[in-house]
Amino acid sequence: MSKPDQYNTQMSSKEGKDSKQKFFTTYTYGCQMNQHDSERLAGQLKSIGYEYTEELTEASFILINTCCVRESAEKKIYGKIGELKNLKINNPSLIIAIAGCMAQKDREKLFKKAPHIDIIIGTHNVHQLVDLVKEVEDSKKHVLAVWDQAEQLAPDVPTIRRGTVSAWVPIMYGCNNFCTYCIVPYVRGRERSRPLQDIVQEIHQLGLEGFKEITLLGQNVNSYGKDTEEYGDFADLLQAVDKVETIERVRYMTSHPRDINDKVIETILNSKKICDHFHLPVQSGSDTILKLMNRGYTTDYYRELVKKIRKAIPHASLTTDIIVGFPGETEELFNETLAFIKEIGFDAAYTFLYSKRSGTPAATMSEQVPLATKKERLQKLMDAQNEISLAIHQRLVGQTLAVIVEGASPRDENRLTGRTTTNKIVLWDKQGTEKIGQLVNIKINTAQTWILKGQLVD
Ligand code: 5AD
Ligand code: SF4
Repeated sequence: MSKPDQYNTQMSSKEGKDSKQKFFTTYTYGCQMNQHDSERLAGQLKSIGYEYTEELTEASFILINTCCVRESAEKKIYGKIGELKNLKINNPSLIIAIAGCMAQKDREKLFKKAPHIDIIIGTHNVHQLVDLVKEVEDSKKHVLAVWDQAEQLAPDVPTIRRGTVSAWVPIMYGCNNFCTYCIVPYVRGRERSRPLQDIVQEIHQLGLEGFKEITLLGQNVNSYGKDTEEYGDFADLLQAVDKVETIERVRYMTSHPRDINDKVIETILNSKKICDHFHLPVQSGSDTILKLMNRGYTTDYYRELVKKIRKAIPHASLTTDIIVGFPGETEELFNETLAFIKEIGFDAAYTFLYSKRSGTPAATMSEQVPLATKKERLQKLMDAQNEISLAIHQRLVGQTLAVIVEGASPRDENRLTGRTTTNKIVLWDKQGTEKIGQLVNIKINTAQTWILKGQLVD
């Protein structure tokens, strides 16, 4: 069974001896925006007296925050919802809520498939949870809150954070791009930017609370400010955030290669705190496929962009997302992608089997690629990328890298873990002098595909 989310709350279920204490737990699937929505949902539950528990059977409120970007996620989530049915039979007062992209897409259909669900919360309705809980407690009936679109920016709500060192801060919601494979614009609505001052203020406050690293979130962060005249653009926002004294590092997710411009690259180059890591999802190394995907750039454009970044910030890392088996992808076109990743030399690539999402243009394109072929291609791509990632990591052996201590390694409590400005995960044997959130120097002595290992140096 998958594990529930962990929060940075002081009180554990063991301490909550009060027999009237109500507990909640959450499970989150999908992207960082969804993870952050769960923090806002959990914060609202805490504000009305619920405490977090890891024990499913102890919870009187279970939230599943869902993703529908690929069919595989949906299947997993339906399995999870099914598992909760017996809990509900044994405890009829248990409240089960489904939030996120699947809730937005499937709405009341979810009640039909799983009548043991109590609340369905759309992506534009996250801030309403407190009212929805009251409604279900009073009426004991199904409660559906799914707006088609956000009329305005959602108000701030109490939030509890999952980490202690690193925190997520949304800067914009929605996406206007309509890549032909992607469901996101249909379930997250049009682009809406948060006011620059609100973002800066929130980051300043998080710094005061002890957070060292901030990740700015948006489906397409480079579109920041385009929907209004008031806040400047993404580079202006980065400049403002770079000046926040209470924090040490700033990351951002996700960039669209078409929209990242010279001003952004220059801002990062001249900044003190913006990390030297570019995540630029290329999706395919074939111009034919890029066109069918409606990505709005060619491989040559992407090559030039990478050249520009590497000239400006030579040690920056570069990661990407790639979809294999998009409709019309022949063996020859797939080989173009394979050649492209070798040519660029990405530090890492997140690779996905194309998944047909009904309602998107690609779902009805002819020449869908058979699953077995997709799987074969994915394996080839992963093998090639793993070799590249390992070679890049091997070049880091012997170097000393600055890492912010995030905590114990999930697998070994005698080891600590943290990340470099280039977003490499580093593990080392705990010396006991390190403090969570501290910037330390680690001399790298072992390279693996996804991680680096080393030792603490003074
Ligand atoms: N099938 C497979 N992968 C997808 N992505 C988005 N939509 C789909 C889909 N229908 C991938 C893209 C995106 C990442 C977050 O998920 O690579 O960058
Ligand atoms: Fe989906 Fe494309 Fe928008 Fe990213 S930019 S969320 S892939 S439509």
